[in-house]
Amino acid sequence: MAQDPLIVFTPSGRRGRFAAGTPVLQAARSLGVDIDSVCGGRGLCGRCQVRPSIGEFSKHGIVSRTKNLSGTNETEARYDAKRGLRADQRLSCQTQILGDLVIDVPRESQVHKQVVRKRAEVRAIELDPAIRLHYIVVEQPDMHNPSGDLERVMKALREQWEMEGLECDLRVLQTLQKVLREGKWKITVAVHRGQVLTTAWPGFHNRAYGVAVDVGSTTIAAHLCKLATGEIVASAGLMNPQIRFGEDLMSRVSYVMMNPGGEVELTAVVREAIDTLFQEVAKEAGIGKNDILNVTFVGNPIMHHLLLGIDPTELGVAPFALAANSGMTFWASEIELSEVNSGARVYVLPCIAGHVGADTAGVILSESPHLSEEMVLVVDVGTNAEIVLGNKDRLLACSSPTGPAFEGAQISCGQRAAPGAIERVRIDPETLEPRFKVIGSDLWSNEDGFEEETKATGVTGVCGSGIIEVLAEMFLTGIIMADGTIDGAMASRTPRVQADGRTFSYLLHAGEPELRIQQNDVRAIQLAKGALYAGARLLMDRLEIETLDRIVLAGAFGSHIDTKYAMVLGMIPDCDLSKVSSAGNAAGTGAIIALLNQRARDEIAQVIRKVEKIETAVEPRFQEHFIAAMGLPNTTEAFPHLAKAVTLPTPKERSEGAPGTGRRRRRNRS
Ligand code: FES
Repeated sequence: MAQDPLIVFTPSGRRGRFAAGTPVLQAARSLGVDIDSVCGGRGLCGRCQVRPSIGEFSKHGIVSRTKNLSGTNETEARYDAKRGLRADQRLSCQTQILGDLVIDVPRESQVHKQVVRKRAEVRAIELDPAIRLHYIVVEQPDMHNPSGDLERVMKALREQWEMEGLECDLRVLQTLQKVLREGKWKITVAVHRGQVLTTAWPGFHNRAYGVAVDVGSTTIAAHLCKLATGEIVASAGLMNPQIRFGEDLMSRVSYVMMNPGGEVELTAVVREAIDTLFQEVAKEAGIGKNDILNVTFVGNPIMHHLLLGIDPTELGVAPFALAANSGMTFWASEIELSEVNSGARVYVLPCIAGHVGADTAGVILSESPHLSEEMVLVVDVGTNAEIVLGNKDRLLACSSPTGPAFEGAQISCGQRAAPGAIERVRIDPETLEPRFKVIGSDLWSNEDGFEEETKATGVTGVCGSGIIEVLAEMFLTGIIMADGTIDGAMASRTPRVQADGRTFSYLLHAGEPELRIQQNDVRAIQLAKGALYAGARLLMDRLEIETLDRIVLAGAFGSHIDTKYAMVLGMIPDCDLSKVSSAGNAAGTGAIIALLNQRARDEIAQVIRKVEKIETAVEPRFQEHFIAAMGLPNTTEAFPHLAKAVTLPTPKERSEGAPGTGRRRRRNRS
């Protein structure tokens, strides 16, 4: 007796024999091959497309024979006419096996396909969104066999999708009868995590989107993703409107403390801003708000609490207790977000500790130190630095009070990163003359055309990365001594070093406005970098390690900073420079991962439980490390890797002209 046809699926390599006439999709399912579907094999969604290599197996390979596959039926022809089908692809639900076949399942048709990430060193995201759409045909009501519409929907889900024990939200039930009749008993439902029916549409519906939101204290960023492909289809950002209640986080907490009910205002403005972002991304992608079915959030603990309408007062005072430190799922309407589907589900990543928030949970998901063999230090540089250290065996986290100096605040010539801000600086070691680049131009300031190109923006100030570079260059050229003092003796070598009261300053830009680096600016950065380094070193102490395999700088600032200069200043511990990288907005990426992969939510919940939280404020060695880290790059620690990459100045005695550290003076930002 002839054997049944043999089918091999690639790339999985799964194979089996099936009776002639079996649909390819059915064969795939029975072999556990992942093929996507929304319509349940009805030739509507086009998600099940495969690429067949038709033929019989012989020792010479596959012998091509078209008769091994059924021809195009009416449903497939209709789909092709309406939506278009590639010549070499077929709808697996409509195509039957007639003979031996090799069937390639293209990436787009795989259920758990991988979403490509730009950076090679990070793990891929496996697409497995929390929301899935299912098209069902529901039995009509029968007077002789009475049953509820919902019960027949559940029956259809059981029989057509093998989904058991679902719950239905009241708001879906309130619309269900209308939807069923409008769709003539054919409807599409959205199911959250295989458990809850969240939305229903009449007929076939194929659009499901989600938004990943990073609620920062300065900016809020949103990415709209197509849940079927993982593609980011639109992004938008805006300033956090809470800034008008206080520039930094603690001033917003103070606002709440001093104005009873103030948290309600802060919550309302942030939610309003998020709704605006939803409108913007939906408009950019050309979709309706009803297509947004899932939202994920990351944010620091105070942003997290305010978003959820929780008074953040407890986070402002020791012992900095969080209202909750687990990831949470809500209805979007519970937090009054209206520019999404009324059945949209919201997931907020877990906070770790009073100062280490859901943004750090996002960074962990993105950078995966918990899966690493190597000992990796992840630093999210912002107003506070969140620091994570560890590997697959142990993970530690803390936050360090760096203050906003790295972002250009507290620096006399500092400004936020914006066109016109100096972002790169080099100082000639012989002449001590600077050259720089500003945001908005690729030219160095000493190159032809610079004046012309920067005419519109001008040179307005120095942003965070520019400050790191100018200070590092000043240190490398001997203008700043290892203790952070601007060396007055250098005034004899360059007119750019000028007396400034009891201290000295370095003239970076003589135009309008005049930009000079003052002693207090150096001190502000020393304090910030000292806190950052001390936090990292404290975690290294806990793990009893002296060296690191890898360092990742996360955060918007981290992605602009030159890692070499960060190390020259001793912001981060010594490490092979080729193993120090920038991760960009890793917290936001974490929100995207949680949006596209529901199991990432369980994973981060588990990791968070195991993270050892270190409170820097109560650690006796913090102060010791902090004082050592005030030196450049560090008073007590060696930087052997750095010394191989750059020529560090030999420590010199404080010169006669330098009057010491000087009295700290407050200066306004220009
Ligand atoms: Fe939807 Fe085949 S499963 S078209």
